Amino acid sequence: MSVSTENMLRPAIMRAIDLTAVIDIESRNYDFPWTKGIFSDCIRAGYTCQILRLDEDVVGYGILQVGADEGHILNLCIDARFNHRGYARYLLERLITMASQQGAKTLFLEVRPSNPRAITMYALAGFNEIGVRKDYYDSFDGREDAIVMAMAI
Ligand SMILES: CC(C)(COP(=O)(O)OP(=O)(O)OC[C@H]1O[C@@H](n2cnc3c(N)ncnc32)[C@H](O)[C@@H]1OP(=O)(O)O)[C@@H](O)C(=O)NCCC(=O)NCCS
Repeated sequence: MSVSTENMLRPAIMRAIDLTAVIDIESRNYDFPWTKGIFSDCIRAGYTCQILRLDEDVVGYGILQVGADEGHILNLCIDARFNHRGYARYLLERLITMASQQGAKTLFLEVRPSNPRAITMYALAGFNEIGVRKDYYDSFDGREDAIVMAMAI
């Protein structure tokens, strides 16, 4: 599937003014959402913070940190109301390109084992599982491990 401007879908830099919409999506799509402060810190730190707009509405976002030759996708979320349209895949490919442009040679991310759809998406994009971080995430049953995935770019 291709996503183009004909769909009125456009990426943009996440700014402080977008954070109300971002937090709204974050809180509805994660059981353990990031706070507004975390997003503010990412913007302030100069991370690559992207939103996706459909017409004027924010429908998703991604956060990428690049340091030296390593990149880390810290968050990638598409509001459930807009799932299965290829938006996450589009944003992921954009973040991979942006990481490469900033000099990253390897890109990392963590994902919950309980999130098979995201794992499949990352695998199809070229990420491989390279390890597990024990008890990395909050969960309703205590803690949940993280699968660590990486790709060479
Ligand atoms: C997981 C999530 C990001 C998916 O968003 P989405 O916009 O619905 O995803 P897409 O429409 O781009 O779907 C990806 C689809 O393309 C497939 N796909 C992804 N990359 C592909 C590729 N390179 N080639 C072929 N197919 C691909 C996936 O298998 C998936 O298929 P499905 O729709 O049949 O399940 C979204 O549900 C979400 O934000 N969830 C909550 C937050 C979250 O879990 N984020 C990930 C944290 S690590």
